[in-house]
Amino acid sequence: MRRGRAPGKVLLLGEHSVVYGHPALAASIPRHVTVELLPAGETRIELPGGIQTPFPLREAAVAMAREAGFEGAFHARLQSEIPLGSGLGSSAAFGVALARAFKPGCSPDEAAALAMRIERVLHGAPSGVDPMACAREGVIFFIRGEPPRVEAVRGAAWIAVALTGIARGTHSTVLPLAERRKADARIDPLLARLGELARKGRQLFERGDLPGLGATFDDAHAGLRELGVSCAELEETVAALRKAGALGAKLTGAGGGGAAIGLARDEAHAREMAAETGGFAVEVGG
Ligand code: PMV
Repeated sequence: MRRGRAPGKVLLLGEHSVVYGHPALAASIPRHVTVELLPAGETRIELPGGIQTPFPLREAAVAMAREAGFEGAFHARLQSEIPLGSGLGSSAAFGVALARAFKPGCSPDEAAALAMRIERVLHGAPSGVDPMACAREGVIFFIRGEPPRVEAVRGAAWIAVALTGIARGTHSTVLPLAERRKADARIDPLLARLGELARKGRQLFERGDLPGLGATFDDAHAGLRELGVSCAELEETVAALRKAGALGAKLTGAGGGGAAIGLARDEAHAREMAAETGGFAVEVGG
């Protein structure tokens, strides 16, 4: 049996705008997806909780196996410490873990590129930031492209991650936004502003300016709400993080459900916020 493993991720800044060529700041989180790979008579992907595997996902995994040089049919069994569909990178981590199982010793960038096969099936038109964050680990500054521009970002911060409990696919907000963008001239300037916040956030993160970084989280959340990708449950979750003393809080990932993050002063504060919002505390970077 072979095994592949990869962490989940949060988008600190730049979700959605990264799809349109603006930068994003993303971080891996110490919650992992593991894939066990066994030779089998017939290819099968076993998702947790008995979830049915969509046919295109199986096809994408087969195509990835061939690209990675793995011959024959297989049984891939996925275990996840990340709730699926929560915006915390379960699908990207699955793709990276599967790539590592097919091709042990492959580089992080190669694993991220292989994982794009899964991302395209599950996400429609992904920027590639999710698998890159899961594969590289730590905090990255990312601009999409062929190849993407990826820089490791120094620094560390504690955050609380709070879940709305609403699972959703990234399709559900990314594709409608692409449609709205065609008819609404206010969207492009908003996307550019979110990209600027990611650039600024990177500098503040590297300097360890937590109040400044918190303010960029708040500004980014306001921009994402204006883009129409928040929802009542995310607004409640962000408000709860702020009430718990977050230096700044925002939705993370595609929105429409999923998760929100709150920036903490330190580890103890992150744990307090997590306890008050039913979430969990993690250090990003470091
Ligand atoms: O799938 P999520 O919730 O991790 O969102 C990914 C970030 C987006 O910018 C919304 C999509 C993308 O591919 O960059």
